[in-house]
Amino acid sequence: MVQCSTGIIRIGLLVLLAWPSYSATATFTLEELHEQLQGLRENYIKLKEDIVAIVAKNAQLEAKDKMLEEKVARLEHELRSQEKIQVAAGNNNTPRTCHEIHDTDPSLTSGMYWIDPDGQGVGEAPISVFCDMSTGSTVVSHDSELPMEVDHCPDPGCYSRGINYNVTSIRQLKALAEMSAKCQQSIKYDCNFAPLEFSNAAYSWWNDKDGNPQYFWAGSDSSVHICQCGIDGKCVDAAVKCNCDSMAPVQLTDYGVITDKEILPITRLNFGRTQLETSSGVHTLGRFECTGQVTVTGMPKSCEDLWRKGHTLSGLYSVMGTAMIETVYCDFTKLPSDPGFQTWIGYADVKSSPTYFFAQRNATSFNETNIPIPFDVELLNVGGAMNLTSGKFTAPVAGKYFFSFTGLIRFMGSSTRQYCQLYLYKNGDMITKSYSDETSTALEDETLSLQSTLNLNKGDQIWLEIFYLTPGTFLYGSLYNQFNGFLLEEDISQFVKTLMV
Ligand SMILES: *[C@@H]1O[C@H](CO)[C@@H](O)[C@H](O)[C@H]1NC(C)=O
Ligand SMILES: *[C@@H]1O[C@H](CO)[C@@H](O)[C@H](O)[C@H]1NC(C)=O
Ligand SMILES: *[C@@H]1O[C@H](CO)[C@@H](O)[C@H](O)[C@H]1NC(C)=O
Ligand SMILES: *[C@@H]1O[C@H](CO)[C@@H](O)[C@H](O)[C@H]1NC(C)=O
Repeated sequence: MVQCSTGIIRIGLLVLLAWPSYSATATFTLEELHEQLQGLRENYIKLKEDIVAIVAKNAQLEAKDKMLEEKVARLEHELRSQEKIQVAAGNNNTPRTCHEIHDTDPSLTSGMYWIDPDGQGVGEAPISVFCDMSTGSTVVSHDSELPMEVDHCPDPGCYSRGINYNVTSIRQLKALAEMSAKCQQSIKYDCNFAPLEFSNAAYSWWNDKDGNPQYFWAGSDSSVHICQCGIDGKCVDAAVKCNCDSMAPVQLTDYGVITDKEILPITRLNFGRTQLETSSGVHTLGRFECTGQVTVTGMPKSCEDLWRKGHTLSGLYSVMGTAMIETVYCDFTKLPSDPGFQTWIGYADVKSSPTYFFAQRNATSFNETNIPIPFDVELLNVGGAMNLTSGKFTAPVAGKYFFSFTGLIRFMGSSTRQYCQLYLYKNGDMITKSYSDETSTALEDETLSLQSTLNLNKGDQIWLEIFYLTPGTFLYGSLYNQFNGFLLEEDISQFVKTLMV
């Protein structure tokens, strides 16, 4: 028993090394051994508790580690997303709308983001908005989102509350509306004996982005006083267009969504005719929300297109007109809806293919009919559109051209009338004709001339032909004739189309 106990003690000492003053060979009384065993037991229990505590702590630390790891991963993701947005926007540009951010990285989560609707580096500083990434919509909050009670007062608009958006200037919201495909704002009026309109007199209205009063409470038709129930034909009183206008002595509500982005956001709410103790009005104005983005396809056609594509430097720009290139002055310190945003300067005289010619017949006289008149002296043929040998001009591009011909006809003299008819042809169709005659029996020279301004397609051909000539008569050579032609104005849109395929 003693030996056995000693054995246990030995093991305990070896394991714990807690009693360095005892020797393994020492002998003890039974009581002493009991005492020491008790002490060791207590130590053992304490150590066990410590170990449990350490294990628990370790688990905690591991969990904390995991949390930190996750946090770092999330931050890295956010950082990458921001970088992606910036790269997509180019030159570290702030995105114009939440739609743009959403397009850049659809995996981004909803939250507050910085956007700059009126463009980076011009106008107002960027604004912080809520981006709802489920729809890519931009949501702007204001100070009147909670239900608010209208004061008791009699006159139209006697209660008036300006709406303060969480932006430094309304200009950014105007720009947001112009950039976006759709914008909307909901408005609710809980009323009791508080009509919006009564006896054809408006007691309530809201002010649009420019401060103009508006009397419609749903939809986009600003020409009428109407609420959603009026649009649906479901107002409590069929004689009125808003529930509140019915003057029924019960609690009623008009709720609608304004969808005309040209006049949003709502900047002020005005109510009246709430003077009775029993009357009450409570307004609840929704946040200003915009979705989508107006896309510009093809070449920019205006300063507005350039603005949408991110141009912010005011100056002269070339834009594509219907047929010609136009030069416009864009003032990007303004918004597209502002006067003076675009000033038309003029048509840009651009020719993708300069075309001028001046041809003559020198060597011989000419008397053949119904074949293109050939020429042999080329004084000018820029662009090479005139083929002197064949006598045919081929339009190198679509546009407006001018042609003129002057020649000398020699009549040999006869007792009967001698004459010459000259035609100008376009692809075999006679366009215009010229005529010259003589009745003298003596030798006579007569001038024959012809001009034409024509709209030609690329590839159209122009030439001259003698249709009829009295026998013996001829077109005089020796430089007494000239055929001129040039491109007045090119239909550059045709040329531009070839660039865009
Ligand atoms: C308001 O804008 C500031 C920055 O200008 C932003 O920090 C804040 O989150 C915005 N508040 C709301 C409610 O949108
Ligand atoms: C026109 O023809 C005449 C005689 O054939 C010749 O002397 C003259 O150099 C020619 N002129 C031109 C411009 O070819
Ligand atoms: C000009 O027309 C002639 C006669 O039709 C033809 O042989 C020649 O190849 C043409 N020249 C050019 C440059 O097309
Ligand atoms: C055209 O001129 C040639 C040579 O000068 C002549 O032989 C011919 O008869 C003339 N033709 C007409 C219709 O005058």
